[in-house]
Amino acid sequence: MIRVGVCGAAGRMGGAVCAAVEAAEGMELAAKADPALDTELAAILDRVDVIVDFTTPDTALDNAAACLRAGVHVVLGTTGFDLDALREVAEAGGANCFVAPNFAIGAVLLMEVAQTIARHMPECEIVELHHDRKLDAPSGTAKRTAELIGAAGGAVHEPIHSVRLPGLVAHQEVIFGGEGQTLSVRHDSIDRASFMPGVVLAVRRVAGLPDRFTVGLEKLL
Ligand SMILES: NC(=O)c1ccc[n+]([C@@H]2O[C@H](COP(=O)([O-])OP(=O)(O)OC[C@H]3O[C@@H](n4cnc5c(N)ncnc54)[C@H](O)[C@@H]3O)[C@@H](O)[C@H]2O)c1
Repeated sequence: MIRVGVCGAAGRMGGAVCAAVEAAEGMELAAKADPALDTELAAILDRVDVIVDFTTPDTALDNAAACLRAGVHVVLGTTGFDLDALREVAEAGGANCFVAPNFAIGAVLLMEVAQTIARHMPECEIVELHHDRKLDAPSGTAKRTAELIGAAGGAVHEPIHSVRLPGLVAHQEVIFGGEGQTLSVRHDSIDRASFMPGVVLAVRRVAGLPDRFTVGLEKLL
């Protein structure tokens, strides 16, 4: 039984993760941390094997560092903070850290397909659309997509376009333009349930990963 703690348990994603962990085989929801529940992360670390963090950009790095110092593996979905700083902390830490800017399989496939397209139609623009309470812009998914397209030889035009509106969840379109044609690929998360199979998979796999620091759900597929 993997003992899972959820950091940010009172939030939109944290609440969905608590339910997904409770429903999954081979793991139990051992503890929740969130200032909104009056429980600090430090108080639950001795009761868990893995912490899943969906909090805020200003707390995620410190949360991960506290877990890794305590020998607790981390599955981190929070976006909008410095991943290089986290890499440094994780590589010096005593447990594994898995980070994904997007846990939805459709978004991961969009990134894969975009790299293939970029080899043939390099010029592109990214439009990401999210609910109006999202704290960071552009989204972690858009930044990661741009990085992967760039590495595949594509040219992502600046800036990445960020739309924030009520009614949206998490959406992204990449539009490629070539001579006399365009090609658009789009992914829509219309419910936070889209992220849960990826989160549960990461919880199962994080302890056995070969590296201290791993980025991207595609590494687990
Ligand atoms: N990787 C993905 O697939 C994915 C998908 C959706 C959202 N996200 C990201 O997840 C994060 C959370 O999104 P949300 O919509 O659930 O936000 P939210 O505002 O609904 O929830 C955040 C929660 O974190 C809590 N929190 C703040 N500081 C904390 C701390 N130090 N310790 C414990 N809890 C703390 C808050 O009280 C709040 O309940 C954002 O960064 C968002 O971009 C990632």
